[in-house]
Amino acid sequence: MDSLLIRGGVPLRGDVTISGAKNAVLPIMAATLLTREKCVIRRVPDLSDVRFMAQILESLGAKVKVDGDVVTIQAARLKPVADYDLIRKMRGSICILGPLLGRQRHARVSLPGGCVIGTRPIDLHLKGMKDLGAVISIEGGNVDVLARRLIGADIFLGGRAGPTVLGTANVMMAAVLADGVTTIESAACEPEVVDLAYFLNKMGAKIIGAGSPTITITGVKELAGVEHEVIPDRIEAATFAIAAAATKGEVTIHGARPDHMHAVLDKLKDAGVKIERKGLTLTVKKGGRLKPVDVTTLPYAGFPTDVQAQMMVLMALTPGLSIITERIFESRFMHVSELARLGADISIEGPSAIVKGGRLLSGAPVMASDLRASAALVIAGMAARGTTHVNRIYHLDRGYEKIDQKLAGLGARIQRVDQV
Ligand code: EPU
Repeated sequence: MDSLLIRGGVPLRGDVTISGAKNAVLPIMAATLLTREKCVIRRVPDLSDVRFMAQILESLGAKVKVDGDVVTIQAARLKPVADYDLIRKMRGSICILGPLLGRQRHARVSLPGGCVIGTRPIDLHLKGMKDLGAVISIEGGNVDVLARRLIGADIFLGGRAGPTVLGTANVMMAAVLADGVTTIESAACEPEVVDLAYFLNKMGAKIIGAGSPTITITGVKELAGVEHEVIPDRIEAATFAIAAAATKGEVTIHGARPDHMHAVLDKLKDAGVKIERKGLTLTVKKGGRLKPVDVTTLPYAGFPTDVQAQMMVLMALTPGLSIITERIFESRFMHVSELARLGADISIEGPSAIVKGGRLLSGAPVMASDLRASAALVIAGMAARGTTHVNRIYHLDRGYEKIDQKLAGLGARIQRVDQV
């Protein structure tokens, strides 16, 4: 098993280019199941999650061809039942449910379990599909969703933590082939939902309002194959911006979408990080002293939960007290104990982490627990004195394309080695 060996203390310098967004490409790949025709997706990042999704689509009968960052998918014929062993590997695979229901009027998928960041239920996905007329049954760990007809409906998708991103995607994908008009209230507003709606509209769907809390979908009879370029990964861009600030470096980030990153850029500015913005390019400048800021994660356009762990590292390095509150996932603080191994002073009080920043971090072996926690540990390792070994980096490979190579290109002393 691979791990990363990082010799810290080197400021990152240079240029890096952002890859396509993982959380946009996964539902878009699933959406190709809605047509018999061929779809071509461009700027697809080379990630293990993308490879899992390709395998899942193949197991359902689709033909998938990967050529560099271009993925061609054609689902001429489909079966509605997905393989448990594939689904359980990736929670994001739940987004095949909506397209299978839309096209086949039937889907059977194994229920995804919880994961380290929280329980991750799918009740809202199922509620939306039920409102469209589907009958839901759960048996033997599988969820079976069956509809003789899908009929447009008014659907409220707000949950205890606000809207659901993949739930919105799933209901939208089922509703595009329903009879009549569907309105989703309390829809997720994330740019990835907007990219999916854009993709579906190119296919011939009639969706308006994506990016706002109310999405209206007028059902159509069938959809066609299209070509599409996925949006850049706003979480990857934020991760590099924070890595640059944490190592006191100067990095130019190309191909980003700063308009998808307002909350992160604003928080970094409040913390004293100097960032120049020019079109699709962000330059994090070597700045003066940083100051602590409080952060609360929220649905888009609030501060993303997927950047919480990385921001915590920056605050751990910044003298003073900051409070980081996690409002999306109940146990997304697994990185805290690992950061403590590097010398960070962080305690957890309910949904908040109290960060007493400014302590010098020093390298240690640490264990990655999930994707964003892994990114945080890599940033901490680069900012720490000495050598850090980040183990279990398969989490990192799920969602960051060639991160070790990209960081090495910025001067980081980082090496992929066998796990210690
Ligand atoms: N929730 C429910 N019921 C549901 C669905 C969600 O109560 O039926 C709750 C969740 O438990 C959570 C909140 O609603 O408390 C938000 O979850 P959401 O459904 O929005 O998360 P998701 O769609 O499963 C996507 C991303 C996550 C990202 C979240 C929040 C993908 C593949 N995953 O998950 O990405 O953190 O939205 O923005 O798009 C990551 O990339 O590291 C990652 C975990």
